Formats: sequence, structure tokens, C-alpha cells
Amino acid sequence: MTVRFRQLATHFAAEVSPIDLRQVHDRDTLEQLRAGMDRYAVLVFRDQPFTDAEQLDFAQRFDGTLHAQTSAAVLAKNRFGNEALTDISNVGADGRILPGNDRRRMSGISNRLWHTDASFVDPPGRYSMLSARVLPPVRADTEFADMRAAYDALPEDTRASLEGLRVHHSIVYSREVLGFEFDDAERARLPGAVHPLVRTLPSTGRRSLYLASHAARVVDWPLPEGRLLLRDLMEHATRAEFTYRHEWQPRDFVIWDNRTTMHRARPFDDRTHRRELRRTTTLDLPLPARA
Ligand code: OGA
Ligand code: MN
Repeated sequence: MTVRFRQLATHFAAEVSPIDLRQVHDRDTLEQLRAGMDRYAVLVFRDQPFTDAEQLDFAQRFDGTLHAQTSAAVLAKNRFGNEALTDISNVGADGRILPGNDRRRMSGISNRLWHTDASFVDPPGRYSMLSARVLPPVRADTEFADMRAAYDALPEDTRASLEGLRVHHSIVYSREVLGFEFDDAERARLPGAVHPLVRTLPSTGRRSLYLASHAARVVDWPLPEGRLLLRDLMEHATRAEFTYRHEWQPRDFVIWDNRTTMHRARPFDDRTHRRELRRTTTLDLPLPARA
């Protein structure tokens, strides 16, 4: 079938023409969707009534091996007994809204910082796929920023100065900024990971900034200078012109490329309203030739 894309923001993000992803198994359609990801970096699909099993199947069909160490999973086990299905919600195992001081809630709230999924491990996340199951009656948007457009907009001498720099990403760092505390065992388990600051997407040759709240230091620079650079780049890359804000509808399914975008949750009254989404993320491993 022919897939069509309607662009949603200046540089990126598109809504995909009606399609039932549960039924998509043929190589041609999957390739059209992958090409759409390369071009738009964020794809919005309406009306995808996934079960958990169907979502897990689709994610692997679309992009390979699932990641089981993203965000909350590194801090506490989730309620589904499968760490490849990430619980993006404000409810506990009993299905009730988490109390204000619950560590799982605090972890979820950390998604309000601009980030890319699992940049604090190696391999990090490649595609993240988020399925809306229960939405609050108030806006609780997710915002995205295009790191390719942000890179392209940098002055040439700045771009040149970023060549070859490496960044240490750490979830301990991003959570401590918000007041989280970690014991020694957790610290030892969460050493972080080093990634290039500028990445080149193999399939398109386009370059993008690889930034996140987890970006703790520039390995090659003195600490204060590196942290100032990361702050400046964050500020630049999240200017409104590079962003798209997604207002969720029931059964929406949104896929983003963590290599070329950042995202963040927007605040809402999560002590009053339930919000339940499920995320599947793939490992950013080299892609085998697709048969
Ligand atoms: C995620 C995430 C933001 C949101 O699922 O990785 O950061 O709005 N979600 O829930
Ligand atoms: Mn996230």
C-alpha cells in the first residue's frame, strides 16, 4: 500500500495516512515507514488499538531487538513483568495513581526534562514507540525537538568546534539534578555511557546533535567548560522553531528516532488524573541488511 505523510512542524514530524500497523507485515510498507522515519524523525499514527503483545510484535518487526533498560526500568521493576514494555504512566501495580513522593512517580516526572531514551547506556535506544492507552481529560502533551535542524542552524565555526567531541551520559546525573539520591549499589550499576556529540545518520548522511538531560560532561573538555557548552547547545536545540508538540488522542501511536530528536513530557496534574501509555524502544545496533 502507498503510505502518505502530512508534515506537522517546520522541519520534521508527520502524521501518517490511515493504516492499521497490526496488519502491516509486508516489506514494502515497512520500508516506506522507515523512509518516513528518516525524513520526518517523528511519525504520528492515529487509531492504533494495540494490545501489549501486538505492540511488542510490531516494534520488533519494524526495527529489530527491543531495549529493556530504558528510563524507569533501571530503577525499579515494572508491573508488566517484561522490561521491554516500558510503563509510561502515573499508576502503580494496584492500578491506582501513585502518591506524590513515590519513587516511580518521581522517575516518571523526570521525563519532563528534554532527553533521548536510554542515552545513559550503550547501545542506547533507536526508535521509541509510544502507545496511548488511558489519557487524562486535560492536556498532557509530549514535545519533540529536531536535532538535525538544530545542528544545521549552528554557525559553521561552532559546528567545526564540535567535531570529534564525546559526551558522558548518566542517569545518576540527570536524576541528581532533580534531587534524587542513589546508593552505592545503584551508582555501581549505572555507570553511564559515552557517545559522540554529533552523530551522522547512516541511512541519510544527515548530521544531528546527540543531547539529553543525561548529558553530564564533555569527555574531552574541562568540566565547567563542557557543561556550559552542553547548556548552550540544549538552549539552542530546543528553540520553538525546532519543536513539535503532540497533543494526544486516544489510541495514538507515536514513533520517534532517538538518534535525531529529543523529547520531553509536559506537566499536568498527575496527582488527580490517570495517564497510561506503553513504550517499546529498539536497541541502536547496526542494522542488518533487511531481507
Ligand atoms: C517516553 C517519554 C514522555 C511523555 O515515553 O520515553 O519520555 O509525555 N514520554 O510521556
Ligand atoms: Mn523518554
